[in-house]
Amino acid sequence: MIEMKKINKIFGKENNSRVLFDDLSFKINDGEMVAIMGKSGCGKTTLLNIIGGLESLSSGQYLFDSCDVSQYSEKELLKFRRHNVSFIFQNFALINEYSVMDNILLPLEYKYFNKKDGKKRAIELLNNLGINYLIKHKIEYLSGGEKQRVAVARALITNSKVVLADEPTGALDEKSSIDLMNLFKSINKLGVSVIIVTHDIDVANYCDRIIKL
Ligand SMILES: Nc1ncnc2c1ncn2[C@@H]1O[C@H](COP(=O)(O)OP(=O)(O)O)[C@@H](O)[C@H]1O
Ligand SMILES: [Mg+2]
Repeated sequence: MIEMKKINKIFGKENNSRVLFDDLSFKINDGEMVAIMGKSGCGKTTLLNIIGGLESLSSGQYLFDSCDVSQYSEKELLKFRRHNVSFIFQNFALINEYSVMDNILLPLEYKYFNKKDGKKRAIELLNNLGINYLIKHKIEYLSGGEKQRVAVARALITNSKVVLADEPTGALDEKSSIDLMNLFKSINKLGVSVIIVTHDIDVANYCDRIIKL
């Protein structure tokens, strides 16, 4: 379970600072599918980064399964990220020079995972996402919507407990968005918590609950 207690994040220095969240508290239970909404610049990406252990708090507390992530060292954070969370970044963060398949298999390098099983699962995900024709393509030649779906496949390959998605339908057409939300729903049914930042109320309505920033 994720629990935030009176969190704040401050960027910048005293007379030129930006304070985010204003003592925000919330919980997200295991297996929940939650949308995070709020206007541009309100801190949605920052909040996902905090949940994923990529960004620290300025004050407040972050508990994950009752462990205080806000007190973790860099080394503990690295371990936390590898074992618990998968990211779908707003800018995808794929490796341009690698093929689609090699990008998707990348997270498995840090896990004990049979390579053959990994490839099988990658193909399954690409099929579900409607981009199995791209397996051998290099990332740099793909469209935005294709890259977005590759980023989704890479996030789903590891079976982590929590998937964090930053505007994952932002580059997709309506049909691809619906397919993707159904894919999120299906992994959520398997017990994975899914946390989605979105501007789109139709996307948010696929979730159990909306957290407004
Ligand atoms: N590393 C940073 N240094 C300084 N300011 C930042 C940094 N990251 C984000 N911000 C600021 O914090 C605010 C929230 O950013 P962000 O979380 O990206 O918002 P959102 O995703 O809701 O659009 C913005 O005003 C942004 O400029
Ligand atoms: Mg953002």
